[in-house]
Amino acid sequence: MAKMIVAGNWKMNASKEAVTALLSELKQGAVSVTNAQLVVFPPFPYLAQAQAELSGTSIAIGVQNICAASKGAYTGEVSLAMAKEFGVSYVLVGHSERRALYAEDDAQVAAKFIATQAMQLTPILCVGETLKQREQGLTISVVTGQIQAVIDAAGANSFDNAVVAYEPVWAIGTGLTASPAQAQEVHQAIRAHVADVAPEHAVGLKILYGGSVTATSAEELFTQADIDGGLVGGASLQADSFLAIGQAAK
Ligand code: PGA
Repeated sequence: MAKMIVAGNWKMNASKEAVTALLSELKQGAVSVTNAQLVVFPPFPYLAQAQAELSGTSIAIGVQNICAASKGAYTGEVSLAMAKEFGVSYVLVGHSERRALYAEDDAQVAAKFIATQAMQLTPILCVGETLKQREQGLTISVVTGQIQAVIDAAGANSFDNAVVAYEPVWAIGTGLTASPAQAQEVHQAIRAHVADVAPEHAVGLKILYGGSVTATSAEELFTQADIDGGLVGGASLQADSFLAIGQAAK
């Protein structure tokens, strides 16, 4: 079976000192993770440090956000070409915090997804419903709608080189995790939706679960048929918990 992906989204956390310690611990511990591709997503200022520390290891590097434009007058933005110079291979696209706090809409998310693939990098498309939407029974339609928005803009074949992360908004940073059955239901619906338009890409599509994942919850989540790894926030800031989640990939 193909390796799972265990991705650590550091968000706007850490410091030079903390990054030095975390990267060195991850480097030492990475050999204990045999069934998952580990990926770290540091804040931009620490990319050079991550590249220097992680070169020659099995740990890949990603960025938490990117500008869809290639260069020019975009104050405060970072381009894909710049990220690529620092050894980046994955890009988070449409994280719920970007959608909610920075008003990123489906069109911007799709543009970032397309630009990422055009640079031969792999987008991790984040989708997920709010608590209100779940209570209204809208979970599957919200999530498949977010996927469809990218298919409309990028085409069905675009899921050939892409990863999806299902992150229920109500589970992010709250300590609440979707139950394995709740997560599996949505993951299955995502795969079925992609299969409708691109059956050849649906089977191998990696669909990660995110939202308060811990080493304990990962054990059972990762046994679900359509869960192919995790996108981890809080627990990725400590090497031991992040590595333990990686070890939960069987
Ligand atoms: P969390 O974050 O694990 O802290 O809930 C997950 C994410 O937002 O990617």
